Amino acid sequence: MTEPAPVSSARAPLALVVLAAGKGTRMKSDLHKVLHPIAGRPMLQHLMASAAALAPERQVVVAGHGRDQLEKALGDSATIAVQDPQLGTGHAVQQAQGALAGFAGDVLILYGDVPFVRAETMERMLARLHAEDAPAVVVLGFEPADTLQYGRVIAEQGRIVKMVEHKDATDAERACRLCNSGLMAVRGADLFGLLDQVGNDNAQGEYYLTDIVNVANAAGKTCAVVVTDDEYEVAGINSRGELAQAEARWQERRRAAAMADGATLVAPETVWFAFDTVLGRDVTVEQNVVFGPGVTVADHVVIHAFSHLEGCTLDSGVSIGPFARLRPGARLETGSRVGNFVEVKNARLGAGAKANHLTYLGDADVGAGANIGAGTITCNYDGYFKYRTVIGERAFIGSNSALIAPIRIGADAIVAAGSAVSRDVSDGELRLVRGEQLVKPGWADRFHDAMKKKKAEGKK
Ligand code: UD1
Ligand code: CA
Repeated sequence: MTEPAPVSSARAPLALVVLAAGKGTRMKSDLHKVLHPIAGRPMLQHLMASAAALAPERQVVVAGHGRDQLEKALGDSATIAVQDPQLGTGHAVQQAQGALAGFAGDVLILYGDVPFVRAETMERMLARLHAEDAPAVVVLGFEPADTLQYGRVIAEQGRIVKMVEHKDATDAERACRLCNSGLMAVRGADLFGLLDQVGNDNAQGEYYLTDIVNVANAAGKTCAVVVTDDEYEVAGINSRGELAQAEARWQERRRAAAMADGATLVAPETVWFAFDTVLGRDVTVEQNVVFGPGVTVADHVVIHAFSHLEGCTLDSGVSIGPFARLRPGARLETGSRVGNFVEVKNARLGAGAKANHLTYLGDADVGAGANIGAGTITCNYDGYFKYRTVIGERAFIGSNSALIAPIRIGADAIVAAGSAVSRDVSDGELRLVRGEQLVKPGWADRFHDAMKKKKAEGKK
């Protein structure tokens, strides 16, 4: 549906009111519903990030129980208005009045548990609010495959005749397919006056936000509906099942976007991205790879199967895995390689450096071109503090070495296999920390002969 154009292209100042005071009982969780993560970020933050594109001047989150958790998650980014007890969506918005004192712009009402509304859709609602017919309220509607318990928007040519909750609706009204997403745009100057006139004489005994439309209509004003054909963006999340569905849909879209941007996903349905994953061009991601938050991957990187990445940066031409684990602070410079069963945490691998097998590199700095042998461990922790390991350029660390930090290994140095190194190694030095090797030619042959003889004689 196309809406009439706004009278002016300049937008009024904007305030967000995000409702999040519902009990969220169906989640059965100690964590506030809107803080459950999707793609590694709380659903509330997904919503706030989309709305940030509209540069809101004020942001109010209406909270009930669990507001401490919300305060912690939001910090200074939003004001929390408390709704206690929870007497309905209209009553919830009323609680934002104090936080919006003196605000004269537009108010966009969102739900914390409807996190994927696009900024573009929010823009459409605000533009509609400023069209020539100047509606008092703009409602975001949608036509779901199953109308379930949604409130209905009875409308004619985009003008709302009546808003009615499913529980209060007649059969004829229930037959209406246009549903209320719950999201609304209202001018700040009108909002609280309209809410003041909303009563609770209805099937649920609640103060319905939807009734501001009916109040405005009764006063001879018009109210408009903007329709989205993307059911996904207005999908509410009320249970763990719906949370998993939302995650699945998010991932599906992100995979499609990654491929559209030039990454090869060998088995897209097995790759899991985070909200902030950055992929370059010609990146290949094999099967069963998981991206946690904070991963940036440059061009021409290959991520082999079953790798897990989080908080790390991969420069161009890097290859990792299969079965690589990159933890926060891992930085792999151009062309470096991390192989199977290698864990890297808070460590830099210089250009072309390699750690190909069975290694732990934690709190380390590995120079360009260094070779870290199989089974090398940086012993970075003594049970109390963490210490750094610094390995020079082109150094060669033999297999099964323990580098006991704090320690520096010089450039071009060699650490012999099996060494437990606890003192610094200079540039160009060979360090060998092992017991003396005993060499006894023929000893084993003599041993076997003697033992076989004893056994044959029945002795022990
Ligand atoms: C609401 C709408 C309905 C719409 C549906 C879309 C009303 C009266 N009904 O119904 O038309 O189709 O959403 O999902 O608005 N909340 C509070 N305080 C309260 C009650 C709710 O903050 O006292 C918050 C909830 O946390 C939630 C949102 O408001 O984020 C919607 O609440 P919910 O109970 O899901 O509303 P519905 O009855 O489903
Ligand atoms: Ca709901």
